[in-house]
Amino acid sequence: MPTVQDLRQNAGDQPITMLTAYDAPTAAIVDRAGIDVILVGDSMGNAVLGYDSTLPVTTEEVESHTAAVARATNDALVVADMPFLSVGVDRAESVEHCGRMLKEADADAVKLESGPHTVDLTDHLTNMGIPVMAHLGLTPQHVNQLGGYSRQGTTTAAAERILELAREHEEAGAFSLVLEHVPANVAAQVTEAIDIPTIGIGAGPDTDGQVLVLTDVFGLSERSPPFSAQFGDVRAEMEAAVDAYRNAVESGEFPADEHSHVKSDIEDIY
Ligand code: KIV
Repeated sequence: MPTVQDLRQNAGDQPITMLTAYDAPTAAIVDRAGIDVILVGDSMGNAVLGYDSTLPVTTEEVESHTAAVARATNDALVVADMPFLSVGVDRAESVEHCGRMLKEADADAVKLESGPHTVDLTDHLTNMGIPVMAHLGLTPQHVNQLGGYSRQGTTTAAAERILELAREHEEAGAFSLVLEHVPANVAAQVTEAIDIPTIGIGAGPDTDGQVLVLTDVFGLSERSPPFSAQFGDVRAEMEAAVDAYRNAVESGEFPADEHSHVKSDIEDIY
């Protein structure tokens, strides 16, 4: 299993592969495929919990889904994504919430949507033994402040701010950095400027690794962002299976003899 130290040391060698997962069966598929990192993303809000955004996702939901993923994972590094307002409001509460992901859900690290407010917290968590993956660029928990899910770092000043925050989080002890929806040349420059690995989503080919949301990759999402890519059509397979089941029940083909058992010594009951 790659450790956070392996990820740090191997930055720039073989690209790091990261995917989200939210439950045991899909985590097992991702893990057996040799993906390096499984992120139990707060994207579960849209991907599997039926919300319109990630904002309603709770610490308890991330903890429970992280525990399911960790139980099914042997090799990948499991990272729990801290949901909206679970960190940053109060330091002791932030540590407690992050600590629960390692102590009770068996995560290996946490991810924080990052900004000026997470620099000191990253330092503190790291000192407490909780490895932190930082996240800059588009941070979807700020959707109301940003006015949507638009590209970030698109002016020189904004790109410089991302670079400055990347350096500050590296200095604070973050072991890696997710860069979301930023120009490829900005992501390339940030990757060049810091020593910890960058993992891009909508950030071009020059980061140290790539991450996508599993339901987008599977072809199960109702909607996916423009920078995502679909590598399968699981929705079509699921629809076909459900149709086949309904037809089999309605036609009386299911259950067949092999799905039923008869106890012949039971007399008629009244
Ligand atoms: O929640 C999530 O899945 C994420 C990734 C898109 C990086 O934060």
